Amino acid sequence: MALDGKRIVIIGGASGLGYAVAEGALAGGAQVVLASSNPSKVEAAVARLGPKAQGGVVDVTREAHVATFFAGLGPFDHLVFTAGDWNLAMRGAPLAETELDAMRGLFEIRFWGALSAVKHAHTHIRSGGSVILTGGTIAHRPGPNTRVNTAMAGAVEHLTRGLAVDLAPIRVNAVCPGLTRTEIWDELLGKDRDAAFRGMTERQLLPRPGEPEEVAQAYLYLMRAGYTTGQVVLTDGGATVV
Ligand SMILES: NC(=O)c1ccc[n+]([C@@H]2O[C@H](COP(=O)([O-])OP(=O)(O)OC[C@H]3O[C@@H](n4cnc5c(N)ncnc54)[C@H](OP(=O)(O)O)[C@@H]3O)[C@@H](O)[C@H]2O)c1
Repeated sequence: MALDGKRIVIIGGASGLGYAVAEGALAGGAQVVLASSNPSKVEAAVARLGPKAQGGVVDVTREAHVATFFAGLGPFDHLVFTAGDWNLAMRGAPLAETELDAMRGLFEIRFWGALSAVKHAHTHIRSGGSVILTGGTIAHRPGPNTRVNTAMAGAVEHLTRGLAVDLAPIRVNAVCPGLTRTEIWDELLGKDRDAAFRGMTERQLLPRPGEPEEVAQAYLYLMRAGYTTGQVVLTDGGATVV
């Protein structure tokens, strides 16, 4: 189950975890198509990755757009879904003040977007191929006021199990990352980043954030793991053990 010669589509691959998966897959001899909603981000990522990377633009919140994207792509081996947004995820509020209509939006990209991508991608996945979705340790370790985010990340894990039944023998798995030092945290935390990282990871078995390339190993493993389906691989520095 080597990656050499495989074609891998990464939705959300213009930055962060998806970009690190793209780098790892290219190093393993694969061809990569990375896609996300912002054309200039995609273009910059493809330029950094070199000639074996292709780019595409897709907004996973628009099903017709997703359908057109996959219809024009041709066959491939693995679909990796790391697309996500952060604004709502960072907006915690006491339950009594929760804006239900706004918080429904937390499911738009990471849950419904993932389902839309798999719906329109699966007929293009070659024999022996797989799908890898992305959850998060918030599913297992809720904090104060994270209830909707926790539910959404848990729903991604259960979606993985349901899809594994529907799509067999295509394998469907998920990676559940813990705190990972992707570039989005610079934007979200600014100069407070390192202190916040220390606070968020001090009780973990490995008291530091993961590096994107470390977490990418879980995605690369699941592409190669030919007898594994319906599973969630946690890569979280031991955060969920203690
Ligand atoms: N980093 C962590 O600590 C961590 C921990 C646990 C879970 N996670 C989850 O892992 C996933 C990846 O995280 P990350 O740190 O790599 O974040 P990231 O760098 O922000 O990557 C998310 C990607 O999603 C794309 N995207 C956003 N909206 C989209 C849309 N409507 N359609 C298609 N693509 C869209 C973004 O590109 P465009 O702007 O070009 O669309 C971006 O490339 C997220 O779901 C995140 O919640 C991350």
